Amino acid sequence: ELIRDSKVVVITASRGRITTTRTDLLAVNVPLAKEIAQKIRKYNDGAKIVIVTNPLDVVTYVVLKETGFPRESVIGMGSSLDSNRFRYLLAKSLDVNMSKIEGMVMGEHGDSMVPIFSTAKCDEKPVLSMLEQNETARITEELRNYWKLLKTFKEASVFGAAKNAFDIVKAIVQDEKLQIPASVSLEGEYGLSDVCLGVPITVGKTGVAKINKIDLEWSELKSLNDSAEIIRNNIIKIKN
Ligand code: 2OP
Repeated sequence: ELIRDSKVVVITASRGRITTTRTDLLAVNVPLAKEIAQKIRKYNDGAKIVIVTNPLDVVTYVVLKETGFPRESVIGMGSSLDSNRFRYLLAKSLDVNMSKIEGMVMGEHGDSMVPIFSTAKCDEKPVLSMLEQNETARITEELRNYWKLLKTFKEASVFGAAKNAFDIVKAIVQDEKLQIPASVSLEGEYGLSDVCLGVPITVGKTGVAKINKIDLEWSELKSLNDSAEIIRNNIIKIKN
């Protein structure tokens, strides 16, 4: 009944906890996601679906395929959470308030995520002009492992994920045209297709109202490509 009456269905179910990397859960969570997707298709084929379950991008892909829904209807929450962590880490490094920082993370919600340093700003100024080169590597490392740090304070990562998922649901229900990065199925955008991964989108009542194109440095585009390849390889694993 909950599925039938809902405009937005959020999938958070998981059959395990992550220990070393988010893809630990590939084998157990993909069958679970398929089962849930089939029920959503059966009981509410107009629903918009927000995915929280890891490994996020593979689960988003699986739910999209299994429901057969239009790609606008299925959104994976991962890169907005990563982006908020990125902004926090930049603010800490530059010793400023987080509200002064603009920054975005694209790609896999996983070990290959790509912080976009080239467009990140502090008080309108490029952060790259303020950071030492070794700091970008350190921030990238801390960002990718942030969930591990959270696990040392509490059992699992909870509130950040909840807040970012809530924002997406609210943007759909209230047709907010919220701009955030999130995992969606690509059909040629950023030179990628047949994969779901984090890119900047606009969220509104149709789900994905728009996939936004930003200019990336060559090295960032290369990292995004590598990230897509990693996700594709995981998708292949579950097909066999
Ligand atoms: C997170 O990034 C573990 O994917 C979860 O908090």
